[in-house]
Amino acid sequence: MISPATIDEIKNRMDIVDVVGDFVNLKKSGSSYKALSPFTSEKTPSFYVVPSKGIFKCFSSGKGGDAITFVMEIDGLSYLEAIKYLAGKYGIEIEEEEQTDEALEAQNRRESLYIILNFASEFFQDLLFNHQEGKSIGYTYFVERGFSDDTIKAFHLGYSLNVWDHFYQKAREKGFQEELIEEAGLIIRKEERFYDRFRGRVIFPIHNITGKVIAFGARILTSDKKQPKYINSPETELYQKSKVLYGLFQAKQAIRQADNCFLVEGYTDVISMHQVGVQNVVSSSGTALTEEQVKLIKRYTQNVTVLFDGDAAGIRASLRGIDMLLEGGLNVKAVTLPDGEDPDSYSKSLGTTAFQHFVEEQGQDFIRFKAAMLMDDTQHDPVKKAGVIKEIVNSIVKIGDPVKRAVYIKECSDLLEISETVLIVEQNKLLLERNKDKKTQPKQVQSQDVATELLPIEDEQVESLDIGNIIAVQEKESIRVLINYGKESIQNHEFNDEYLVNYFLNEAEEIQFTHSVYNKILEIIKSKAREGIIVDAKYLLDHGDQEVKDVVVELSANKYEISEFWQSKYKIHVPHETEHLKDVTYTNILRLKFRIIQYMIEQENEKLKNISDQDIDDVLDEINDLKKMEMQIAEILGNVIVK
Ligand code: CTP
Ligand code: MN
Repeated sequence: MISPATIDEIKNRMDIVDVVGDFVNLKKSGSSYKALSPFTSEKTPSFYVVPSKGIFKCFSSGKGGDAITFVMEIDGLSYLEAIKYLAGKYGIEIEEEEQTDEALEAQNRRESLYIILNFASEFFQDLLFNHQEGKSIGYTYFVERGFSDDTIKAFHLGYSLNVWDHFYQKAREKGFQEELIEEAGLIIRKEERFYDRFRGRVIFPIHNITGKVIAFGARILTSDKKQPKYINSPETELYQKSKVLYGLFQAKQAIRQADNCFLVEGYTDVISMHQVGVQNVVSSSGTALTEEQVKLIKRYTQNVTVLFDGDAAGIRASLRGIDMLLEGGLNVKAVTLPDGEDPDSYSKSLGTTAFQHFVEEQGQDFIRFKAAMLMDDTQHDPVKKAGVIKEIVNSIVKIGDPVKRAVYIKECSDLLEISETVLIVEQNKLLLERNKDKKTQPKQVQSQDVATELLPIEDEQVESLDIGNIIAVQEKESIRVLINYGKESIQNHEFNDEYLVNYFLNEAEEIQFTHSVYNKILEIIKSKAREGIIVDAKYLLDHGDQEVKDVVVELSANKYEISEFWQSKYKIHVPHETEHLKDVTYTNILRLKFRIIQYMIEQENEKLKNISDQDIDDVLDEINDLKKMEMQIAEILGNVIVK
């Protein structure tokens, strides 16, 4: 462990301008420095260094922090690696603190594993280029596949002889312990004998992001169906498949420059694309993407383009995995290759220029791509269509940003030829389910009394009123929450704090209030929010007309005063509604939508009274759909449907 004293010294010595200046061409601008962002490919500089505070801030990527953070970001280093880099730069000697015996042993074991894996990688490369069998079988195979020497070297490709224990013997001769060779996944023990895991195969080393070999994939050269095409290293202390992307070490610089990452399935796809000059490419090694892999990509870019092989079954199988990218907040595009082609074959058949052009031109927004593709399948079968809608909305809710979600809902409503409301209801259902999962323990044990206390005002009062009035009451309740708590911050789906007003407006963007005075207030709130002003009761009392003022006065009274009474008199803790603002707001939005759907049903029912026979089916269908939505929201809200 590096001693705190050393870290302090590094922090004292490091100079942000100096550290950043090694990587970025800084220009003085007033008391700070400015440059083109090294994290994106921007055209006008939005990267700042503020020496007086010792920080940098990049407005195009959102990254910022001190010199240590900068080194971590620019080079993909861990904290410890960044500290070591800075110590080297300033000639500070690293003082290691006494480690416990176990920590020391673990450290030593990891280092030994790196050493033997590196030895193995060099060993296999040497065989490929210099051994008779390696040259005639392994090297020839790569040449036949069109891999150049430069490419073979860039990916450190190798060959393992078709001998039971060739590597094992050589490693033992070098003095490596049996246990260690086994732990590195290079040999397999069978009845007290050891034999090599990789035999008679071409070798694809797998690197971590700092370029150290952590595992191998090994491809068979025959078409023997009894043996697996690839044999891969098992999981080891250094290699957790779910945390690694093949090719990232070779691709990271290019990903940053292009501000985009191509995602493919296999080792050979990565290598072939690299060879035709598309170097910002990584592979998930044939498995579904994991959250950790998404995080890895996000260190370098927010944009991913997924290349799909040209067979429909394959595309369908991989669609779900892509949701992980959306969930990670990435912008996802899709490129479909012609039937029967994969990136490896197609890059070869098109050649460098045409292939580069192809992947750049063909990128299509993923949600749109998925919607269009699934729609093709339904062939106007309504049952299938319902499934497709669920499937698409399922992807949309993975997107954290409510504004983006709203845009997709709109687009998909056109694409799927289905009303936006249906999609929104489906979306809300899924969002609510998700939020339910996230609820913490204390919230679940809330007493019935408290829950009743938190219900918005209308339920008891309005049962006898007609639907128009119910909506008005609902709208009024929304305004009440907005003007009383608009400035409170709540967590949005990306776990960022956001003003309640903005949260509400994003979630309920398409809503217009039906009752004129409430809509007037909502419009004021909306237009001011666009200017960055959060409208509260005081603002409306200063700027609103008499009608608005009357409403505001009525709504500003705290209807929860009763809580304080109970609290002081009986020492009972009754949570104030501010403690549940997000739930209150969200429930409100749902209730509003619920009422609007009821209103629409009523209007459709009106239509039925004087309608021609040929239109009657359409209206009945519409009513049916609306009823379904009504039931869904009602279920979520635990509402009894008001007649
Ligand atoms: N894979 C694996 N084990 C297998 C088959 C596949 O680990 N038995 C993984 C490999 O990472 C492989 C990826 O899944 O790269 C994609 O599989 P595939 O398309 O079959 O392999 P390619 O890399 O395309 O190999 P080739 O072009 O030589 O067929
Ligand atoms: Mn292939």
